[in-house]
Amino acid sequence: MSEHVDILHSDERPQHHTQATADELFLAPGSTSVQRCAGCTTVLSELDSAPACPSCGSLLEVLHARPTDAAGNVMTGDALRASFAQNCCARPVGHPSGVWRFQQLVMPNAGASITSHPEGNTPLLSRAALSTYTGVEGVLIKHEGHNPTGSFKDRGMTVGVTQAVRIGARAVACASTGNTSAALASYAAQAGIPGLVFVPAGKIAMGKLAQTLSYGARTLLVRGDFDQCLRLVQDASRELGIYLLNSINPWRVEGQKTIVLELLQQLDWEAPDFIVLPAGNLGNTAAFGKALREAYALGLIDRLPRIVSVQAAGAAPFARSYNEGFATRYTVAAETVATAIRIGDPASWDRGVRTIRETNGIVLSCTDDEIIDAKMTIDAAGVGCEPASAASVAGVRKLVAQGVIASTDRVVAVLTGHVLKDPGMLVELHQERTDFPRANRPIEIDADVSAVARVLETTFTGRI
Ligand code: F0G
Repeated sequence: MSEHVDILHSDERPQHHTQATADELFLAPGSTSVQRCAGCTTVLSELDSAPACPSCGSLLEVLHARPTDAAGNVMTGDALRASFAQNCCARPVGHPSGVWRFQQLVMPNAGASITSHPEGNTPLLSRAALSTYTGVEGVLIKHEGHNPTGSFKDRGMTVGVTQAVRIGARAVACASTGNTSAALASYAAQAGIPGLVFVPAGKIAMGKLAQTLSYGARTLLVRGDFDQCLRLVQDASRELGIYLLNSINPWRVEGQKTIVLELLQQLDWEAPDFIVLPAGNLGNTAAFGKALREAYALGLIDRLPRIVSVQAAGAAPFARSYNEGFATRYTVAAETVATAIRIGDPASWDRGVRTIRETNGIVLSCTDDEIIDAKMTIDAAGVGCEPASAASVAGVRKLVAQGVIASTDRVVAVLTGHVLKDPGMLVELHQERTDFPRANRPIEIDADVSAVARVLETTFTGRI
């Protein structure tokens, strides 16, 4: 692994951490899962619907019993790995979902309430064009856009909506930059629970709005930004008794942990050096840290990858704070072409800091131009992703240029959403922007072969 260069002062970011043990992170074998306040450690039952700690207002986290086998024995890393492999493939033992095959670490007591599409089982891709672009020979792409509604949100939402069913919620709600709302709408429809979503008017990508409307969620276009939507939905859910399904919901985090668990399984539990992801509200950054912490304590992996969270430069309060040793929590008025991460006041801030500290992680920002350039490269490789997703690949490229990531490091970059999420941006870039050098303009022709021949001559000269 390459050495970290001076992005931060070394005294602010210890290189070695004492990892929590399984006894500290898990309850005694056979216990029922609980929700615990990350601030004052108040414990709530696993079926409590509180969106945050009723005592101090901090976010909740879920604790499970230490996994045991059928005979009640605590499972070793080997035993857990074997059970996950079996869950994956051997039905009726297993589950076709890439979330629920890790059920012991996600929601052990879900019983018959599980609402699953199924989801997960997303590919780990390698593409020569992306190795060249990033400068990392073996860079791997975990493509979460292959989920049923086209983003990683399905992994959290299958668990969140399952929890809503378990507690008998009368309705579910979220604020969203678009992907959470699409996932909520889909899973709420499957569970038969009314869904209510709050999105910033005029600021979510067309594909996401289309999905949310089609799946039937009641959609409120709020005159304000995402951060205002989130405050509004928190107030509304508290006063109106609607179950909140933003990523501050600890069960969403449990589901999103499986991105990491699944990619580790795909790597035969050989942890990579870096896992790189786009960061907005920091729910995923929080989930990745929790997954790694637990995987390490349970003996699933023998070392921790470094988490790299990449923000858009116009929405980078977390990156700014990281550069100052997390001394200050910032909020900004967010603006970026990557609308999914157009967030100025990330809700999972403390959890995000914990992830970065515990994994000796890195936070950086990339400009919109860098994000678009990465996206165009990903798209042209035939992989495709939505703009925010490309921040991960842009981040890898930048850290290679800075000498932080070496060409031989083992790096997984997560693409969080599908290329069709934001068709409006693509149509504009490729069809309308005359100044865009990589534009792939469609050509209108008469319906005859000679017109096709003329296009071939001018387009593919020397290639066919
Ligand atoms: N990538 C995509 C495609 C997203 O939709 C989001 C978040 C992120 C990255 C950032 O993840 O918030 O956990 O740091 N989208 C949320 C939404 C905010 O409402 O769909 P995060």
